[in-house]
Amino acid sequence: MPNFGQRFNKVFAVIIAAISGSLRAGSSNNALLRAAAKLAPEGVRVLLEEDLGKIPHFNPDLDFEGAQPPAPVATFRAFLSGADAVLICTPEYAHGVPGSLKNAFDWIVSSGELRGKAVGLILASPGGGEWARSSLTATLEVMEARLLPDTSISVRHARKAVDDEGNVLDDVLAEKIRSILVRLAEAARSDSEQSEVS
Ligand code: FNR
Repeated sequence: MPNFGQRFNKVFAVIIAAISGSLRAGSSNNALLRAAAKLAPEGVRVLLEEDLGKIPHFNPDLDFEGAQPPAPVATFRAFLSGADAVLICTPEYAHGVPGSLKNAFDWIVSSGELRGKAVGLILASPGGGEWARSSLTATLEVMEARLLPDTSISVRHARKAVDDEGNVLDDVLAEKIRSILVRLAEAARSDSEQSEVS
């Protein structure tokens, strides 16, 4: 699990949990998230979830109040709990959300780690990913996540736009990703200020 221990001051350090919907070693979605980590503005850290493939199939029989969840599920929940905002970057599969990503989200419907949290969404698929976006948006709404309108983009040309190390070769795309991170950080800081007041 990523180390949250380096957060020294919540006002300055915003943690964005980055989740990829692709398990592929050479994934362009993973490369885009590595790019996001590099493009993060000062005071923002993008931490990548790398164990989505270890999360077992969701089974409601294992998900009751007081139950000890499987270890990868506990790790995933802690990863999200420790984050101030979330960035999802996913391909579309068969006009839908990749099963591994939907499965991971099924585990947090009841536990609620995304409730009220600002979420950004990058759909990196050659076809634009509109079916996946629509389905994922509905799922995020059910989980009461806050999908901000200006933090959602489609990337059709990810393979050409970013290399394996996460260097973005397209300035317009780099600016869009940076802007998503800025908006997520603003939303997270605003949430934090409001919770301190109330
Ligand atoms: C795809 N792909 C795809 N693309 C799309 O735009 N709409 C779709 O419905 C699908 N369906 C689909 C099904 C399956 C089984 C595969 C393997 C692929 C293409 C896919 O989105 C594309 O290869 C992405 O670039 C994969 O992302 P990563 O793995 O590079 O991050």
